[in-house]
Amino acid sequence: MPSIAIVGTQWGDEGKGKITDYLAEEADMVVRFQGGNNAGHTIKVNDETFKLHLLPSGILREGKLAVIGNGVVINMAEMIGEMDQITKSGRKLDGLRISDRAHLIMGYHKKLDGAEEIYRGDKTVGTTKKGIGPSYQDKIARSGFRVCDLFEDDALSEKIKFNVPYKKDLLKMLQGEQCECTEESLMEKFTSWRNIFGKYVCDTSVLLNDALDSGKTVLFEGAQGVMLDVDHGTYPYVTSSNTSSGGMCTGSGVAPNRIGKIFGCLKAYTTRVGEGPLVTELYGEEGKYLMEKGGEFGVTTGRGRRCGWLDLVVAEHSVRLCGITSLAVTKLDVLNEYRKINVCTGYEIDGKTVKHFPASLSKLGRAVPVYEEFDGWDDWDSSEKLASEGYAALPQNMRKYIEFIEKQLKVPAEIISIGPKRSETIDRR
Ligand code: GDP
Ligand code: IMO
Ligand code: MG
Repeated sequence: MPSIAIVGTQWGDEGKGKITDYLAEEADMVVRFQGGNNAGHTIKVNDETFKLHLLPSGILREGKLAVIGNGVVINMAEMIGEMDQITKSGRKLDGLRISDRAHLIMGYHKKLDGAEEIYRGDKTVGTTKKGIGPSYQDKIARSGFRVCDLFEDDALSEKIKFNVPYKKDLLKMLQGEQCECTEESLMEKFTSWRNIFGKYVCDTSVLLNDALDSGKTVLFEGAQGVMLDVDHGTYPYVTSSNTSSGGMCTGSGVAPNRIGKIFGCLKAYTTRVGEGPLVTELYGEEGKYLMEKGGEFGVTTGRGRRCGWLDLVVAEHSVRLCGITSLAVTKLDVLNEYRKINVCTGYEIDGKTVKHFPASLSKLGRAVPVYEEFDGWDDWDSSEKLASEGYAALPQNMRKYIEFIEKQLKVPAEIISIGPKRSETIDRR
């Protein structure tokens, strides 16, 4: 089946960018299908480091198409900066394709994101303040700007007339940063975007399905993680899109029966940015140690990520919801030199052992993790050298850890990542 998908199984930042870049070698095109520039995917190519927010990771490999699907919300003003990062590195943007059905993030969406967060008082979500939620709100409310509108002055003008006074009133009501835009300034902006982005715009569903018909390999690059899914995550502490594999179909216009292998990217421990429950969280010095050892600082906002032990209740939720067929286990090297490592296999809630992730935040607040303890393993000199020697060369205790995860989740760990570089990867397929 010539399509491969990658989803985050936790709260994002599992290393999807690295794994997408690694697998992109085998693909003809890489597709983003949800989220926007709230995502931050770090990719190391030799000595270069790229931080991509919106551009699909395939943009770094020559001759591949990098497709932004209809389910993505696009901040065109900020994407220009990201495109500069690519061209400055000597790479081309020829392979970029943008769906004519994708929605736009406007300046007022960012302002509304900030204002809504303040309005929530001590119940903030801890969003990235990139305008993601307000842009998806407009999509669902049927008042958003779509990429195809850029080419039709009448459609633009009609939507501008509706949105400008509406958003200004809303921002006044929320006492947020006021919107200075006018009907004329917006029209000017749209015209410039039409000129810059016009050549990349097409019906990406037709593009992807034609490619699949002709035997090409399509790689779907998920953003965020299943626990941030608006339906299946820790609502309301979630993002505003479907991050699980269902979102892949609605967000790309490719039917479910065309999705082949689904990789779940699983970090060897847990992190989360922003507010919301995290049952296996490590506090104080323990949490800080893991945060620093793992370099757990947000790519998009720079915030320190909350850290904790691996949670297999979370992973089971993701495997079941997404139909994950293979795991890509990342950042195992960060656990080097721990004497003991814990893995959560269930929650104790009100005297009962729970194996499935509960919907209720109050139950999650009372959940006590049930841990299985593992012996740690020593550090090594070179991840690159170790990866070149293959799976059998890994420390025995690390293999025990990996094999326990596989057994519990009933999914093979086909990719093992022990460093940020392409060459620090063990492929067991
Ligand atoms: P994404 O959002 O899922 O793409 O992940 P991020 O890029 O936000 O965060 C993952 C971070 O871990 C990045 O800095 C990667 O370069 C890095 N990384 C990925 N895989 C590994 C690994 O196996 N080991 C280590 N040490 N770092 C990794
Ligand atoms: P990648 O693709 C980690 C989190 C935010 C916040 C919540 C809602 O790099 O894994 P939003 O701005 O989306 O409305 O914020 O979701 N969040 C992420 N956390 N990685 C991400 O993306 C995230 N994108 C959003 O921190 O808690
Ligand atoms: Mg990230």
